[in-house]
Amino acid sequence: MSNTVNLDWSKLGFGYIKTDLRYVSKWKDGQWDEGQLVEDNNLVISEASTALHYGQQCFEGLKAYRTKDNKIQLFRPDENAKRLNRSCDRVLMPEVPVEKFIDACIQVVKANEHFVPPYGSGATLYLRPFVIGVGDNLGVKPAPEFIFSVFCVPVGPYFKGGMAPVNFIISDFDRAAPYGTGAAKVGGNYAGSLYPHKLAVSKGFADCIYLDPATHTKIEEVGAANFFGITHDDKFITPKSPSILPSITKYSLMHIAKDYLGMPVEERDVLVEKLDEFKEAGACGTAAVITPIGGIEYNGNLHVFHSEKEVGPVTKKLYDTLYGIQFGDVEAPE
Ligand code: COI
Repeated sequence: MSNTVNLDWSKLGFGYIKTDLRYVSKWKDGQWDEGQLVEDNNLVISEASTALHYGQQCFEGLKAYRTKDNKIQLFRPDENAKRLNRSCDRVLMPEVPVEKFIDACIQVVKANEHFVPPYGSGATLYLRPFVIGVGDNLGVKPAPEFIFSVFCVPVGPYFKGGMAPVNFIISDFDRAAPYGTGAAKVGGNYAGSLYPHKLAVSKGFADCIYLDPATHTKIEEVGAANFFGITHDDKFITPKSPSILPSITKYSLMHIAKDYLGMPVEERDVLVEKLDEFKEAGACGTAAVITPIGGIEYNGNLHVFHSEKEVGPVTKKLYDTLYGIQFGDVEAPE
């Protein structure tokens, strides 16, 4: 029996639910304080905070999973810590030591243990670490003070239907500039995606796909997730570009494809004119896990991969292996 709160886990989507405690640590005069768990889910910050005006902030997303024997495990939190610090470097915020990041995540999971969904429900506890520039400041320069915080929310699938194919449309808008902040997990990238996302949804698509901002010929990102395709000769292909957010799930899938499924793996250009090189395609990320792509609309034509209704067999194997590792049913690599 798991000691969980009374929620209808099967109905959870990806929405905010206030949980009991969150971690907050403050940076001032060159150092982070010890941090503490607090009940209040509101932050009181200066009206002149750089996070509010100049987007000096970044965030992460990772999940805690309840295993069959009722243990709770995080998936590769050290990778999230390192990526958070690369984002901090990019927007001139102080790094959070990896041990501090992991300790904060563990504290938050332990303090909200009863919100970790039961094994078998498919739901997980999503952790949202973030760093924001705060304190009084007016000019465009780094903040005098910073906050590092982690909160958590139990979640179900990001795209409605979970592991079921959905369709996407190629966007006319860019998500990131060629050597801008696309590879950093900063809020501005996501603010810029709200309008193209809305347009895609209004046309009946789950989200839009962004092409490379320099030439508009290569696939970069699937909404807030990464792209992968499976070629007819069973290679796992995923785009390479300096403006893509390096998804930890994507790198885990590359590893799974190669070492668990014996597939050749390539990180290289994916031309939007050559979608027929793939028999299956998918979106991947912490929130999206793996979402099979039924079809992609480009220039008014819908290119369908395996099926608009059924999950392709390779995508299914990738999903089952990843899911198995995350929930402790399949042995994780060293
Ligand atoms: C994630 O997959 O964790 C993301 O950050 C995507 C989105 C919810 C912003």
